Amino acid sequence: MSILEKLIQLESEAVSKAESASGLEALDQIRIQYLGKKGSLSEVLKGLGSASPEERPKIGAAANLAKAKVEAALEAKKVKLEGLALEQRLATEQIDTTVLARQAHLGALHPITQTTQKLIKVFSRLGFDVVTGPEVETEFLNFEAVNIPADHPARDMQDTFFLGPGVVLRTHTSAVQMRAMRSKSWPIRVLCPGAVFRCDDDATHSPMFHQIEGLWVDRQVRMSDLKGTLEFFAKELFGSSTQIRLRPSYFPFVEPGAEVDVSCPFCKKNPKGGCKVCKGSGWLEILGAGMVHPKLFQMAGYEATEISGFAFGLGIERIAMLMYGIPDLRLMFRGDMRFLKQFA
Ligand code: DAH
Repeated sequence: MSILEKLIQLESEAVSKAESASGLEALDQIRIQYLGKKGSLSEVLKGLGSASPEERPKIGAAANLAKAKVEAALEAKKVKLEGLALEQRLATEQIDTTVLARQAHLGALHPITQTTQKLIKVFSRLGFDVVTGPEVETEFLNFEAVNIPADHPARDMQDTFFLGPGVVLRTHTSAVQMRAMRSKSWPIRVLCPGAVFRCDDDATHSPMFHQIEGLWVDRQVRMSDLKGTLEFFAKELFGSSTQIRLRPSYFPFVEPGAEVDVSCPFCKKNPKGGCKVCKGSGWLEILGAGMVHPKLFQMAGYEATEISGFAFGLGIERIAMLMYGIPDLRLMFRGDMRFLKQFA
């Protein structure tokens, strides 16, 4: 058989095999068998050397044609098989409309942020503006300027993170009330939220926590104004039946000073057999407050004698724990999604 005849035979063999191929894989096998590097068509062309010079171009052209025809047959069959496969899939596949959609995970504000915003909202209704100060504070503004002398226990190395001589991580937001007074003249009514730092770490203390400081300075601000302000805040936060009480206490920056309790929002001051949160006392301590110490006015450069003011400072974590019933302070800083998801 001449090379030409051989080519024609191979071509028709390959085309008919392609046409009757049962699947895409079989089709691929046919391609390899006839068109591959070691396929039958290539093998035949190896005999080209023995053909006469006049015949060679004819054989070359015939080989190219045979290749093209086989390729076309393979391609046509491939399209057909793919079409069939798709039809089959469409006929058998079903969409289960009862499958639940994949849920998008939306982030949410941290409970500390939510609580801070809530507190700001309540106090802004009484005309308080928000001001902030730096977390890295001078020892002077954090302590001296708010009447905490050098030998005060609060300045002990154990409580304060010192960053360098005269520079600390602020231990309370009271430093910001001093900043506010030094930068603005009275009357002044500000709320200072922010992170504060102390060398402390257990179930009820974190080395970083948050406070809000309130300050109201004007002509004739009285203790009763402080009480009214705090009562409004307590009722807004814990419900209209909430009561507050002031117990005398000492803070260097106020005189007189008080610790302020709210009636327990859980047992409503009715701890039959003992409420766990207020430990059966019916009251919860939530903040420190008092009338601004005259020394602070001096430090701020407020010279007028007719001014007076009140200040208060509260721990935001403590309020958040009460509002949401969070049992352990440390939960708030662990970034555990199971905890955080509850505040979405
Ligand atoms: N600075 C106090 C603390 O960190 C809280 C405080 C108490 C702030 C009484 C005040 C205040 O403004 O009058 O514990």
